[in-house]
Amino acid sequence: MVYSSRGLALLLALSIGLITTLFLSLFDSVKTTALVVTSIISFSVSYLSVFVVLEFLIFREISSLHKIMGKLKKRELAKIEKSNPTLNPLRKINQEIFSFAELKQKEIDELKKTEAFRREFIADVSHELKTPIFAAQGFVHTLLDGAIDDESVRIKFLEKAAKSLDGLDMLVQDLLTLSQIETGQIKMQFENIDLNKLTEEVFEQFERKAAKKNITLVLDASNDVFAYADYQRITQVLTNLVSNGINYSFEGGNVKVILEQTKKYAIVRVEDQGEGIPPEHRTRIFERFYRVDKSRSREKGGTGLGLAIVKHILDGHNTKAEVESTPGKGSTFSFKLPRFRPDDEESD
Ligand SMILES: Nc1ncnc2c1ncn2[C@@H]1O[C@H](COP(=O)(O)OP(=O)(O)O)[C@@H](O)[C@H]1O
Ligand SMILES: [Mg+2]
Repeated sequence: MVYSSRGLALLLALSIGLITTLFLSLFDSVKTTALVVTSIISFSVSYLSVFVVLEFLIFREISSLHKIMGKLKKRELAKIEKSNPTLNPLRKINQEIFSFAELKQKEIDELKKTEAFRREFIADVSHELKTPIFAAQGFVHTLLDGAIDDESVRIKFLEKAAKSLDGLDMLVQDLLTLSQIETGQIKMQFENIDLNKLTEEVFEQFERKAAKKNITLVLDASNDVFAYADYQRITQVLTNLVSNGINYSFEGGNVKVILEQTKKYAIVRVEDQGEGIPPEHRTRIFERFYRVDKSRSREKGGTGLGLAIVKHILDGHNTKAEVESTPGKGSTFSFKLPRFRPDDEESD
């Protein structure tokens, strides 16, 4: 009772009424009726004012503070109603607590997501590492267990073990690149780069691989196309896209790099006439280790990280790759880069 606003108001009003009446009774000239009226008036006025102050300014706010705390404990943030701006300091505290809790909850959610992502990534990496290690281990042990004396298989087994180890090396290199880009260890070195020269250099790397599948590498550029970008990183992007173009193409087609330019941008397109990508996979192929066909990708020496690296590098250039694809007919990956330094006034 004493801890409710009504009880406290009653106690205070009784004391105020009593003190006033006692004080007035000290004067002989004050009549009894006046004393009674004064005590009634002082009691009612004090009761009302104390009650209003306690109930509306303090108790109600404190109990709503309690409710908020309870909901926070149960993580029911969405159920908390936001109150309107006010001058009441207690309500302000309420609002502050709410905003603080909301912020913390967001941080916690973010951390949980990162943690889940990290766990999943470690599981994926372990799995990806396991595959080539197991394969190499298998061949080496078979050789040690006697196959080394069998001339018909020993070279074949050694070659297979070496191929698995090469795959492992590529995977580790891709993982390193990805983590270096993510941790900001690799800073983009922006400069004016010649995209025709860059494409020709990339084609040189793939001459043998393309010839094996009877694929022709075509550079389609009507004039010299320059961009303001990181030469080495864009080489890496094009290497991955051309490599995919060859890997996921049928024998005998073309992989074409088309260079175009608009007033502000250089546009790079990598076109193949390969198997294409079904629509449901198109948004996911840039995720780490996501492959449309896992075994097929591995068999072609893919790490599943190529497009994730492409995405990261293009992010660093404030751009992104677009994909168009018709299953069975081919795919086109394209991205644009600024032609000039952002502060240059040049135009064509
Ligand atoms: N040009 C392409 N044509 C068809 N599928 C492609 C092409 N490029 C990428 N993909 C699909 O996207 C997946 C992810 O590509 P990527 O990140 O380069 O990994 P990887 O090539 O090592 O498997 C590939 O496994 C493949 O399924
Ligand atoms: Mg690839």
